[in-house]
Amino acid sequence: MTYDEAVATAWAPLRQDGGLRELVRYATLAANSHNTQPWRFRVEQDRISILPDFSRRCPVVDPDDHHLFASLGCAAENLVHAAAAIGLKATPIFSAADQAEITLAPTEARRTALFDAIPRRQCVRAEYDGRALAAEELRLLEAAGVGNGVSVQLITERPKVENVLDYVVQGNTAQMRDAAFMRELTDWIRFNDTAALGSMDGLSSRASGNPSLPGWLVKLLFPFVFTEKGENEKYAKQIRSSAGVAVFVSERDDKVHWFEAGRACQRFALQAAALGVKTAFVNQPVEVAALRGQFASWLGIGDRRPDFIVRFGRGPELPRSLRRPVEQVATLAADAQGEAHAGRA
Ligand SMILES: Cc1cc2nc3c(=O)[nH]c(=O)nc-3n(C[C@H](O)[C@H](O)[C@H](O)COP(=O)(O)O)c2cc1C
Repeated sequence: MTYDEAVATAWAPLRQDGGLRELVRYATLAANSHNTQPWRFRVEQDRISILPDFSRRCPVVDPDDHHLFASLGCAAENLVHAAAAIGLKATPIFSAADQAEITLAPTEARRTALFDAIPRRQCVRAEYDGRALAAEELRLLEAAGVGNGVSVQLITERPKVENVLDYVVQGNTAQMRDAAFMRELTDWIRFNDTAALGSMDGLSSRASGNPSLPGWLVKLLFPFVFTEKGENEKYAKQIRSSAGVAVFVSERDDKVHWFEAGRACQRFALQAAALGVKTAFVNQPVEVAALRGQFASWLGIGDRRPDFIVRFGRGPELPRSLRRPVEQVATLAADAQGEAHAGRA
């Protein structure tokens, strides 16, 4: 299988007759930290549970599993819109067992713009066109980014965007000087198609706008190409070319809110994709613990936690990242087998 074939399979339009299996596939198309896909799905006849897969956690960049639980929220959000499209009302709650329980009940099928956007959304780590968005577009994005106990601040004034850039550069510098961070990051980078296809996860070079290179060449070139100065300059260009930056903030710093923040952030990205607007995370200031409090003070949010920072604007398409097939991430309870194939549309 080639990279393009794997992308075409993972990102194919939802098969209306594919039942619950297709809901899981659409859920896995969500944004997720380092593309570790830190989830397991348990599919029953009228419920899908999304469980954390701690074997895929990133202890250095995400020591408290904030991003991991947020990633489950991103997947749940996709699932809600996909379920509606096949005539199921999906209601997620984050349970005391630290997993998402999503009940499914028959309803009239409803295809929304956010559903159509699921296979079009991607993180676009490229320069955008530098143009502002229309007021109505900003209003739609802001509305999509608000969640249960989660708010979003859209920053579009250039001096404030420059302030965010300063924090991103400080955070990026700290991360690139941290050997453990760099080791963890490079462990999840798939430098060429063979590596990406071997694991079907991780950050593929192509999806980040870089060439697919043989392993020996990567080892030789990486230290010269991936430098602190080069990366900081790249972030400066990327942030300055964006129409703005969105910061997601949850009311409480706990797993329920991280999950809800993930949902809100994914909904924001879907709304953006529906408008033809690209998004990319620039999370360094909220990942580096020593910076997070300073960033929160600058934002004026007191002791609440800033969850993610996402830049947005109009820009190019990049090659998509891969996903592991449903069979690798889901278990189907016996009573769901029929449903999984029957569909209810
Ligand atoms: C909680 C969370 C944190 C993330 N942090 C970053 C980040 O700091 N920098 C970045 O470039 N991408 C970040 N990402 C994006 C993921 O790397 C991306 O979603 C994943 O590689 C899959 O690619 P896709 O979104 O294009 O499908 C984050 C995603 C999530 C859900």
